[in-house]
Amino acid sequence: MKITIVGAGYVGLVSGSCFAEFGFEVTCVDKDTAKIDALNQGIIPIYEPGLDSLVSQGIKAKRLTFTTQLSDAVKASDVVMIAVGTPTRRGDGYADLTYVYKATEEIAEFINDYTVVVTKSTVPVGTSREIAEIIKKIRPELIEGVSFNVASNPEFLREGAAINDFMRPDRVVIGTNSTKASEVLQKLYRPLYLIETPIVSTTPETSELIKYAANAFLALKISFINQMADLCEKTGGDIQTLAKGIGLDKRIGGKFLHAGPGYGGSCFPKDTLALSQIAEQHGTKCSLIDEVIRYNDDRKLLMAHKIIDAIKTAGVNKKVAILGITFKPNTDDLREAPSLAIIPELLKNGMTLSVYDPLYYCGSERLGHAFNCERSLEQVRFAKSSYDAVADAGCVVILTEWNEFRALDMKKIRELMNTSAIPLFMDFRNIYQAKDMTEFKYHRIGQKA
Ligand SMILES: NC(=O)c1ccc[n+]([C@@H]2O[C@H](COP(=O)([O-])OP(=O)(O)OC[C@H]3O[C@@H](n4cnc5c(N)ncnc54)[C@H](O)[C@@H]3O)[C@@H](O)[C@H]2O)c1
Repeated sequence: MKITIVGAGYVGLVSGSCFAEFGFEVTCVDKDTAKIDALNQGIIPIYEPGLDSLVSQGIKAKRLTFTTQLSDAVKASDVVMIAVGTPTRRGDGYADLTYVYKATEEIAEFINDYTVVVTKSTVPVGTSREIAEIIKKIRPELIEGVSFNVASNPEFLREGAAINDFMRPDRVVIGTNSTKASEVLQKLYRPLYLIETPIVSTTPETSELIKYAANAFLALKISFINQMADLCEKTGGDIQTLAKGIGLDKRIGGKFLHAGPGYGGSCFPKDTLALSQIAEQHGTKCSLIDEVIRYNDDRKLLMAHKIIDAIKTAGVNKKVAILGITFKPNTDDLREAPSLAIIPELLKNGMTLSVYDPLYYCGSERLGHAFNCERSLEQVRFAKSSYDAVADAGCVVILTEWNEFRALDMKKIRELMNTSAIPLFMDFRNIYQAKDMTEFKYHRIGQKA
């Protein structure tokens, strides 16, 4: 079976290389010539553990190719997957479907034998139907059900663990009204039958909604535990024990119960906004999700003011060392990261910042792809290591729980901070224990300082 994937970003590249690993012939098509040139030279444009070797194995086996030319790839394929971006539309928060529509128009031109057009992108309910209409408009001679079908097959991978998530998913969702298309997609995921992956077969509408509902529920769970952390800070409770106490209840589950500075990333912020808009468009409301969005936005600024207030109270100098700026560890993705709200607020309030992130460091070749877009980051000093960042700082803040921050030499950090006042250590990921941090004024999330 031959597959074309349109869009070689996180989802396209990971799905493409995993399908090639399953034994299918995959062509990844992207408009970005620089990206395709790099991939053809074996350079991976994103940081994702294990992706480089998977891509090079696929290329070596001649099952994975990269091109900017859609025509030959689509003509030869049984399945064409759309994996382009669906960012937040400016002004109203709805999912911007410009890239999806454009990709559909381009694909339609080259469909010849029966082809299943699949949306892997996260798209609002009703988009599969729209895609079928676009194809028929561009090529009126194509008959739905005979020349093509459309299916929704949302992707649930997490950046940083994307390959494992793709190869060992909790479930695969296939949304189509066509038995023929469903059979083609079942074949595609047959390699996962061995590990007994549940397949949820449903309509395109339900499938499209499942993706948004899943992300919105996870955002809600994170926001819930963050609110419980706020309550613990006021009452003397401890959020980690609370999370354990509720998470051991199988009806609740322990995952996504880690209090922190608020969720970020390329999916939760845009997908919660889009879900809220979808509900409004259909004359209903997702008011729980509206509140999650508001609370999470406020929380990021609240974190900045927590730092500012603590610095004032402790009387330490206004140099702040930030450890970690990506929205989570093991990715170079900065999209909607809490750091991008917290850093400008700290700068606005007169703080001087030195920042260290394992993937964004001074003099490195690897400055993540979002680096150039983030103006506030131009005003910070990028340090070469955690120890370089903390030199002469009055306050250290852990924003992202990269593994290398888990066993820092606290004695050395205290010395490098070089201050007569007791320095501040703000652990927004609860990596450390208060009993081990006696040389600092230590703050955790969800515990009285
Ligand atoms: N990033 C994630 O972890 C993740 C997880 C699950 C689902 N998703 C969803 O998957 C979709 C893609 O997300 P992403 O993070 O991979 O996006 P991305 O921005 O990393 O990549 C999209 C790619 O599509 C290319 N593109 C756009 N229009 C094109 C066209 N007409 N022809 C060829 N290439 C085109 C762009 O050049 C870009 O390389 C989104 O809807 C997203 O919500 C993302």
